[in-house]
Amino acid sequence: MSDQITFTIDGVSIKGKPGQTILQAADEAGIYIPRLCYHPELAPHGSCRVCTVLVNGKPQAACTQPISEGMTVENDTPELKEHRCNIIDMLFIEGNHFCMFCEKSGNCELQAVAYRLGILAPKFSYLFPKKDVDATHPDIFLDLNRCILCGRCVEASKNVDGKGAFEFVGRSIEKKIAVNAEANLKDTNLAVTDKAADVCPVGTINKKRTAFAVPIGKRLYDKKPIGSEIEERKK
Ligand code: FES
Repeated sequence: MSDQITFTIDGVSIKGKPGQTILQAADEAGIYIPRLCYHPELAPHGSCRVCTVLVNGKPQAACTQPISEGMTVENDTPELKEHRCNIIDMLFIEGNHFCMFCEKSGNCELQAVAYRLGILAPKFSYLFPKKDVDATHPDIFLDLNRCILCGRCVEASKNVDGKGAFEFVGRSIEKKIAVNAEANLKDTNLAVTDKAADVCPVGTINKKRTAFAVPIGKRLYDKKPIGSEIEERKK
């Protein structure tokens, strides 16, 4: 069996390795595919659908779809951009994302993907849902106003930390992250050194006593758009 798989993304020939997903092969080739729930150190679970591409004309999640010889992938098209913008716009109105007051501003992947896609103003009406805040843990602050249900904390706590401190509960618009305890976050065995405390893409899981260690304006996505680090691999 060949140790390389050749396929195209937007007409560019890419070589990947057997077992890689489209997203992994694209990253290695320096092609950015927008994503939110994917984290390189966690098993992909394809929940946000921001990474949707067309594979031989059919929509697939790039973070879970394995590459295959000769496949044709479309990534940078007006239709896919609109699809991604709609998802991001809905995430903004389903939560309470007050970016100007958020400690994660400038390091937030939701905010950064929105800027990268050119979203500057809300497209849909805000729902202003009532969400919980849990500051009971000595080292970690949980703000569900900003949760986008990416599931990274669930995956990391269960399969990296071996704890299961977080879980999804409810369905549809009622779906939310819950802590695996009788009452509050302080009643879980979550530690500030856990992977689960590190992987939140937005301002939901925050470490206490670290706020504004890096000032606004000097943060990761204040300097370069999200995805630049991947595109620089091409040079
Ligand atoms: Fe692929 Fe979320 S990044 S579905």
